Amino acid sequence: MQTFNDTYTLSNGIEIPCMGFGTYNAKGGDNLAINKTAIEAGYRYFDTASLYETERVLGQAIRESGIPRKDFFIVSKLWIDERGYQEAKDAFERTLERLQMDYLDLYLIHWPRGTEGDVDWKEKDLDTWRAMEELQAAGRIRGLGLSNFLPHHLENILENCKEKPLVDQLEIHPGYTQEAAVRYCQEHDIRVQAWSPLGRSAMLENPILKPFAEKYGKSVAQICLRFLLQKGIIPLVKSSSMERMKQNQDIFDFEITKEDMYILNNMPQNTWLGEHPDFAIPKKRSNFEQ
Ligand SMILES: NC(=O)c1ccc[n+]([C@@H]2O[C@H](COP(=O)([O-])OP(=O)(O)OC[C@H]3O[C@@H](n4cnc5c(N)ncnc54)[C@H](OP(=O)(O)O)[C@@H]3O)[C@@H](O)[C@H]2O)c1
Repeated sequence: MQTFNDTYTLSNGIEIPCMGFGTYNAKGGDNLAINKTAIEAGYRYFDTASLYETERVLGQAIRESGIPRKDFFIVSKLWIDERGYQEAKDAFERTLERLQMDYLDLYLIHWPRGTEGDVDWKEKDLDTWRAMEELQAAGRIRGLGLSNFLPHHLENILENCKEKPLVDQLEIHPGYTQEAAVRYCQEHDIRVQAWSPLGRSAMLENPILKPFAEKYGKSVAQICLRFLLQKGIIPLVKSSSMERMKQNQDIFDFEITKEDMYILNNMPQNTWLGEHPDFAIPKKRSNFEQ
């Protein structure tokens, strides 16, 4: 990837921008302004989800930009309690209604399983996937993907699907590289995307990363994002200021050496940001309708 506007080709042939803008935790009063600023800063790939309650305002920002819908790459996700055949179809309609759009570029299952009681999660994921495949066949989604699926969750889909997952969105940043899941995805031609690429800003004060920022004359945030780019992983970064949005795009004029990449790949590992797909109880959506 040489510039911010470069794209990867996913396994079904569609082009995906090499960086995206995250909309989690941006549902407050200024969220419309944040999304408009992100569009002005040049972002065209936006990551949302029914859980985030940002679909409605993202759709509004895009409409009011006057830029054609086809120039954007819009990804949304259905939440744990929206899994199931009919549930997924209904969730998709709600998402499109909130976005006021007639198709999605990618639609993802946000989380592979629910709490301990979710014993039939494999079946539920497959029913969900079947509904998503039908929506894609009807021309309403350009591609299908997953989020927080580890190899044992992915295998369930891969062994039973008609349409292969194109992406898997995982928490990844220096200090949390999820090597096993990333390797599995790469072996199966599934493009990895990184959520919380800055560790939700927890990595910015990391004492191991600071000297790298000094060495390359960049910020710690830029080191984190460049690290992901060099690994072929798509960072989905969120910011609320034009200055930081621009800074996060300015990662194409330097290269982290092979030796430094090894060091960054092998930092002491942090845990998930408290949200493990098998071992933590995920949040509930607060509001179906936003
Ligand atoms: N699939 C999933 O389960 C999942 C889970 C979590 C997140 N996500 C996606 O991933 C996206 C990004 O993750 P995230 O929002 O949790 O965390 P993040 O992008 O790692 O970090 C965002 C935080 O970093 C700050 N920041 C951004 N750029 C900066 C810079 N250059 N210098 C200093 N600080 C900077 C932001 O502050 P300011 O806003 O003040 O700039 C914000 O507090 C989400 O928005 C969402 O779309 C997906």
